[in-house]
Amino acid sequence: MMKQEKATVAGHDNFQGEYRILRLAAPAVGSLVRPGQFLELMVPRLGERILRRPFSIYKADAQGVSILYKTVGRGTDAMRAIKPGDKVDIVGPLGNGFPTLGSGKVPVLVAGGYGNAALYLKAKESPAKGIAFFGGRTAQDILCVEEFEALGWDVRPTTDDGSLGTKGLVTAAFDPWMAEQENIQALELFVCGPNPMLKAMGDRAIEHGFTAWLSMDKNMACGVGACLTCVIKRRTETGWEWARCCKDGPVFESREIIWER
Ligand SMILES: Cc1cc2nc3c(=O)[nH]c(=O)nc-3n(C[C@H](O)[C@H](O)[C@H](O)COP(=O)(O)OP(=O)(O)OC[C@H]3O[C@@H](n4cnc5c(N)ncnc54)[C@H](O)[C@@H]3O)c2cc1C
Ligand code: FES
Repeated sequence: MMKQEKATVAGHDNFQGEYRILRLAAPAVGSLVRPGQFLELMVPRLGERILRRPFSIYKADAQGVSILYKTVGRGTDAMRAIKPGDKVDIVGPLGNGFPTLGSGKVPVLVAGGYGNAALYLKAKESPAKGIAFFGGRTAQDILCVEEFEALGWDVRPTTDDGSLGTKGLVTAAFDPWMAEQENIQALELFVCGPNPMLKAMGDRAIEHGFTAWLSMDKNMACGVGACLTCVIKRRTETGWEWARCCKDGPVFESREIIWER
């Protein structure tokens, strides 16, 4: 069930590096959130005819929600002017979210960029804690490490420049770890990050026979299943069908996805 809510801004601060945190008093949306869901935010002062922007829900409770965001364009730049006390129109929670960890499975989180925020509620709710591979360009892009550690996760960062953890892509830490696992098929991955990261993890899941839930990163216009901007090809028993990342996803199992060349 989703709600539209005029949320009151409870806080808006620098978080880390280029990321800011926006805390919203939004009880109607906050009390419904499941891990891996997102909301659509109408950016104030851009005008109501401009499309809402999608953001993963980082934290949620009966009081409200928070998001972590980075400025990449016009909408997220205008968001920087939001002040405590402002009213912000949101719709959420949206999307299917991550499924519950399978019985006997070993949970593994893999994230890059805002993916760390998108996986926080999953990390919190997971009955078993495991290992979390976080990738970023520099140490500034690796978010929330202490928070995941406080929940009991073993965080393994990788950075392109080697400023934190293993130097290289997330696969530089994941692959040697995977090679040491005695029961690879028991792994269950929850992945959120840029498309090359999603595809790399999905390919490994298919090759080695484990499960990987991928939260797809597609531009979204309506966020509620009406406009078809966010479609991907989903494999079916007889061929394929269009699936909407906003409503049928954003989370799909790796075997469902037919990647565009
Ligand atoms: C389900 C979902 C959850 C998301 N969660 C978060 C989050 O928690 N935190 C966060 O910072 N961002 C998140 N994003 C991305 C966020 O929605 C975009 O950064 C935002 O819409 C850009 O709006 P803009 O007007 O600033 O940029 P625009 O002017 O629309 O675009 C500026 C630049 O950003 C690129 N861009 C636009 N949308 C995306 C996108 N979805 N992914 C990658 N590049 C994009 C454009 O190609 C362009 O180069 C999420 C996206 C999706 C689909
Ligand atoms: S964003 Fe409109 S259908 Fe998904």
